[in-house]
Amino acid sequence: MSCPHYNQREFEGSIHTDFNDDMSYGDYLNLDQILSAQTPLTGEHDEMLFIIIHQASELWLKLAGHELTAAVNNLKEANYSHAFKVISRVKHILNQLTQSWNVLSTLTPVDYLKFRDALGHSSGFQSYGYRKMEFLLGNKNASFLQVHESKPQVHQELSDILHQPSLYDEVLILLSQSGMAIDPAVTDRDFSQPYSRNESVLKAWIHVYQNAEQHFDLYELAEKLIDIEDAFQQWRFKHMYTVQRIIGNKMGTGGSSGVEFLKKALDISFFPELFELRTHL
Ligand code: HEM
Repeated sequence: MSCPHYNQREFEGSIHTDFNDDMSYGDYLNLDQILSAQTPLTGEHDEMLFIIIHQASELWLKLAGHELTAAVNNLKEANYSHAFKVISRVKHILNQLTQSWNVLSTLTPVDYLKFRDALGHSSGFQSYGYRKMEFLLGNKNASFLQVHESKPQVHQELSDILHQPSLYDEVLILLSQSGMAIDPAVTDRDFSQPYSRNESVLKAWIHVYQNAEQHFDLYELAEKLIDIEDAFQQWRFKHMYTVQRIIGNKMGTGGSSGVEFLKKALDISFFPELFELRTHL
């Protein structure tokens, strides 16, 4: 019955109500597990925000890792259109993650200090979802595996990703397969080592950008990678800035110098030649 003064929605007769033997929303999503996984260590009001923002970020990182793995596989098969689709999705996930700093910024230094000691040495630095993302994108650093030695399965997964070609390695293999003169030291290298800028790659990208119509797939792919780095750097920057706002120049719970350590990450580029080429156009 619809009545303009009756401010309530009718519970339609066809709505399913009996979930004794039927799968419900919560059953499908394992909500009992997810929503009972918040276990604050103090009675401080703001610890719940701190826990949930980290847990939500980890879920998004898990999805981003899943999508980036698909992108690497798509590129291995030179399947540009599928790679474009998932790379775009990763960009939006990163933007979503960056937005979450606005919620966290409502935590003042005083609020945080009330429960910081309870965190011990735990730190986002030990986030394996995040390290997986960094490795998949190409920021390889074997020494960062050390913090995962107490979890052999995680250590193994990260070590495997460290040794495999990253997203950018696959892109450079495609660049070489498209007939560009790429230094073999780029495509046939120890992928566990950090990628360093190469002159032949720079020249190839300049050629792609100057002849975009002929190499449109590579050109579009390069611009999508720029989107990813842009979004990733915004996350890194907002994290560093939020941390500075909350703990100043204190050391991190993970043992690093804190903000100084986070600032150094801002100098790391996944796709160095894609930025350098712009100077030469
Ligand atoms: C009060 C909030 C936060 C503070 C004060 C903080 C502080 C820090 C500090 C100081 C580090 C450097 C490592 C260390 O010594 O601990 C770090 C690293 C890290 N944090 Fe946070 N963080 C906060 C929130 C978050 C959130 C919400 C996430 C989301 C997942 C996160 C993810 C990370 C990651 C992934 C790293 C490693 C970054 C890298 O390797 O460059 N942090 N954090």
